[in-house]
Amino acid sequence: MALKLNNKFIEKFVSNEDIANISAEIYEAQKLLASRTGEGNDFLGWVDLPVDYDKEEFERIKKAAKKIQSSCDVFIVIGIGGSYLGARAAIEFVKSPVYNNIPNKDTPDIYFAGNSISASALNDLLKICEGKDVCVNVVSKSGTTTEPAVAFRVFRALLEEKYGKDGAKERIFATTDKAKGTLKKFSDENSYETFVVPDDVGGRFSVLTAVGLLPIAVAGIDIDLMMKGAQDARIAYSGSDINTNDCLKYVAIRNILYRQGKSVEILAAYEPAAQMLCEWWKQLYGESEGKDGKGIYPSSVIFSTDLHSLGQFIQDGSRIMFETVLDIKKANDELLIPFDPNNVDKLNFLSGKDLDYVNHTAMLGTLFAHSDGNVPNIVLELNDRSEYSFGYLIYFFELACAVSGYTLGVNPFNQPGVESYKKNMFALLGKEGYEELREELNKRIK
Ligand code: PA5
Repeated sequence: MALKLNNKFIEKFVSNEDIANISAEIYEAQKLLASRTGEGNDFLGWVDLPVDYDKEEFERIKKAAKKIQSSCDVFIVIGIGGSYLGARAAIEFVKSPVYNNIPNKDTPDIYFAGNSISASALNDLLKICEGKDVCVNVVSKSGTTTEPAVAFRVFRALLEEKYGKDGAKERIFATTDKAKGTLKKFSDENSYETFVVPDDVGGRFSVLTAVGLLPIAVAGIDIDLMMKGAQDARIAYSGSDINTNDCLKYVAIRNILYRQGKSVEILAAYEPAAQMLCEWWKQLYGESEGKDGKGIYPSSVIFSTDLHSLGQFIQDGSRIMFETVLDIKKANDELLIPFDPNNVDKLNFLSGKDLDYVNHTAMLGTLFAHSDGNVPNIVLELNDRSEYSFGYLIYFFELACAVSGYTLGVNPFNQPGVESYKKNMFALLGKEGYEELREELNKRIK
């Protein structure tokens, strides 16, 4: 087991009886998922993905990753939401949050584009590409999302100018729908190598498809090991006894707390490398559960950094939240605190100690403090930051999210609310077909 739920800091808030009382509902939600009869059941491809995936494409991903590694200095991954967060989370978590600055690495720098509408962000990346060899992976299931589509126009123009149309073809890789959509059609017309976002896997559940796997493999991460982690988690969490299935227990505890009035869940990690994992997790839970006036608002912190900003609120502010603490048992590095003969900062009691020991002690101190401040703390103990543990954790969170969404009584696999801003933006920008809405919005501005 790469992951273990520790409920020591939750016992004061959630009793075994509370868990027993909600368990029938959790089992019902688990059954709904397994029987594929719940809402959104067209989007359950991720459930068996760790074993039931396209093996031929998997090998092609590894081959393309090698080609990209040997032909560019900079690899630009274009995508937004579920089409980039998982890949970025994996690269930062398994490698480093400063992956691009790792000295003497033999893999390309990787930058993510098309995840905002900022001209400065895009221009900064264009400047980085000057004088460098560049490859691009455009990732969009629909192929029509504005942010990545605009960024792709910009990078395609750059590549075609630099390498000619034929040269650019060798450097553009598209991950999109297997048959439908403008990006698939355009890629086929231009002979780009394409990879598939399966029909039955939504963006936020797609990290173990080509969406995540290609950029992750380009970073030099072993995607076989990552899949193995997800495979083992799939088996570990298939049981239906809440006392031995930590995934179901996590679902139970967070739903009990929600019913007690805790409407915010903070994912807390003590490693900056987990920052993008937290962003991935926020999208997963936010888009899956936040609908029909329901849902736990997913938030995140990196400690001890945020203990010096949000720590005050968590300790002492409105009692609306609980924390899920990611406790990474084994650090990637050892760093011993030096001895200072003058002991200027009076910290010589720490000299010779590993910084990770201090980090873990800070975590323990914080767990006591927050729990004393009436913030329930679920602790998820993860072995390490390996690709295996990453795959395991991803599957744990995806499964828990789906079961939790069904327990809450929502469809965890749609995201109708995301469309509202798009419609208004298109109307205001003058897109054809939005004339009536444009008129209405313009009246409201006046
Ligand atoms: O989870 C989702 O479905 C979304 O975040 C999408 O991934 C995101 O909107 C990007 O969509 P697309 O891949 O169609 O460009």
